[in-house]
Amino acid sequence: MAIKYIPYYPDTLEGQAILDNFVRTRRILRYQGSDGIVERIKRGMPLFETESKEKSGENPDHNLIIRGECLSACAYLKEKDISVDLVYIDPPFASGADYAKKVYLRRNPDKAQQIADAEQQLDIDELRAFEEKMYGDIWDKERYLNWMYENLCAIKSVMSENASIYVHLDWHIGHYVKILMDEIFGEDNFINEITWYYYNKMAPKSACFPRTSDKIMLYSKSVNYIFNTQYEEREKAQKQLVRKFVNGKAINARDENGNVMYVESFEKRIDDVWRVPMLQPADTNEPVGYATQKPEALLERIIKASSDEGMVVADFFGGSGVTAAVANRLGRKFIHGDIGINSIQTVRDRLKAQNAEFEILEIKDGVSLYRNPVQTQDKLISLIKGLQENPSLDKTFWTGSINDSKLGTIPVYLPNLLDSSSRVLDKPQAGRLVLEGISNLGDEIKKVIIYYIDIEDYWDIKSFIDKQNQSTLIEVELRDLKQVLDDVVLEDEADFEVSEFETQDLFKVKMYKTVINSFHSDRIKMKINALNNKGEQQALASGKPFKRLSISDNGLETIEYISVDCQNSDKTAPWHSDSEIKIDTSGFIIKDGKKSSEYWDGTITSEKNPLRLKIRNICGDETIWNL
Ligand SMILES: C[S@@+](CC[C@H](N)C(=O)[O-])C[C@H]1O[C@@H](n2cnc3c(N)ncnc32)[C@H](O)[C@@H]1O
Repeated sequence: MAIKYIPYYPDTLEGQAILDNFVRTRRILRYQGSDGIVERIKRGMPLFETESKEKSGENPDHNLIIRGECLSACAYLKEKDISVDLVYIDPPFASGADYAKKVYLRRNPDKAQQIADAEQQLDIDELRAFEEKMYGDIWDKERYLNWMYENLCAIKSVMSENASIYVHLDWHIGHYVKILMDEIFGEDNFINEITWYYYNKMAPKSACFPRTSDKIMLYSKSVNYIFNTQYEEREKAQKQLVRKFVNGKAINARDENGNVMYVESFEKRIDDVWRVPMLQPADTNEPVGYATQKPEALLERIIKASSDEGMVVADFFGGSGVTAAVANRLGRKFIHGDIGINSIQTVRDRLKAQNAEFEILEIKDGVSLYRNPVQTQDKLISLIKGLQENPSLDKTFWTGSINDSKLGTIPVYLPNLLDSSSRVLDKPQAGRLVLEGISNLGDEIKKVIIYYIDIEDYWDIKSFIDKQNQSTLIEVELRDLKQVLDDVVLEDEADFEVSEFETQDLFKVKMYKTVINSFHSDRIKMKINALNNKGEQQALASGKPFKRLSISDNGLETIEYISVDCQNSDKTAPWHSDSEIKIDTSGFIIKDGKKSSEYWDGTITSEKNPLRLKIRNICGDETIWNL
């Protein structure tokens, strides 16, 4: 539960065009004679406890990587009195798609030769890769706009007076959000609608003009905003009149003979149509394996145009970390927020390679139970014993039902973890569940189960539901979802040993070597088993051959990253990485952020005695051991 709620910047501007057919997070508290309206926006942004997970360097600029929802990240910043000078967000677009990440088994140092032989003959991708869901982007418009409204109000609350905000969307929902932005920031504070034209997109043939652009809407918080004109090179030099100022007026300059003068101009001001190529899978430098990753060139323009060195640049839907990486490279401070663990790890590794200093915070809001909300939601459905889809129940309320030998069908409600606005079980939500969900169930239903992740006050809500539900004889059981997951998260296991050695050179320096003998992740094993079973079933149905993915006995190919901490032995202290190795998808190691052409040999060395060891598996789960 949130520690408290912090007021938003709720004053939307009078007299603006508004969308009139959605409730703007107002929720109707309709129950027995009451049709009162509870404005969630009045409740404020939820402030949760935070945990410092890692510190890299001294970090005098207070650069932050925050794992958490945009709303709670803003609540944290507001509470700490941190304001931001530039915001870029590239939130889910309501594109109707789920985004996945390709997960690769790595090169196992003990099996390198066998794998190399196998690579000669087999389709290696098929042999060692699978997909993991990262985030979902399936919304109905009304829910999306309510959610976005609250996010934009939260972001405005932490923007400094001369800050600007760039909101990156596309044709799916962009123009509805523009009207929201007029309402929240004011039409007078609209600066530009930028068209990002990614001319190099391979658009499939279809009965429309190829869709090769996104919209980036730029607003400021006040009329005093930072704007630095940006220039780009012309393809061909152009003749331009030379102008000069006389008494504050620009006039044409003339030579001694009275003729107007020209110069050859090689650059031009960047206008609101940006021709920036989108990243291609074949690009070798930028892509970090994150679906929807945007090019650095795009962020470079934004950051240079709307901030100065030393200012704070924030991205609350940071994904691969492009904003933080470019901000850091351009001498700005950065704040990266995202709910997904893959995003946090990706930006962390990306910034480490730039030698950036930062702190990683995790917001304890109960959503990050698993790697990300989509996977948590899927996992929960699979974990609730006996839960099955039930097409005869209203999907707005019931995820499915459980069949009980005595009570018959028991409808089950699960909160939608992807939608922060319906995550807390409060009176409006409970009232709706009773009035529109439970009351409409047939007479044969004796009991329902309502799972909650966050509840306003358990006893208060319980007695509220009982009171509202008097007209039915249906029993309502409230259950805490967190317990379902706590019971099943299995830590990974590793077998390792630490020894001292001396370097072979003249200096004979004492060093420490940690050897990983084996590594086992039940979570990966279960995932691979499930994929193999699915593949075999499909193969049986289609008659096509299927190659099983397999893991070796020592499991070293399921490791993505290893780090040792030589400063803290306390398990709860923020991580301090004294030495780290990341194994890339080709098996080469990235040591302390620097790429190399060496393969991993199953060890990690450090100058100091390692006190803790951290291993991240290829799906992104991290486990820490004391040495
Ligand atoms: C389109 S991607 C951002 C891509 C990013 N601009 C880049 O270049 O890599 C959207 C991101 O928003 C994150 N996300 C979705 N809902 C969120 C929420 N409520 N709060 C914070 N992050 C969220 C997803 O995990 C995803 O990484």
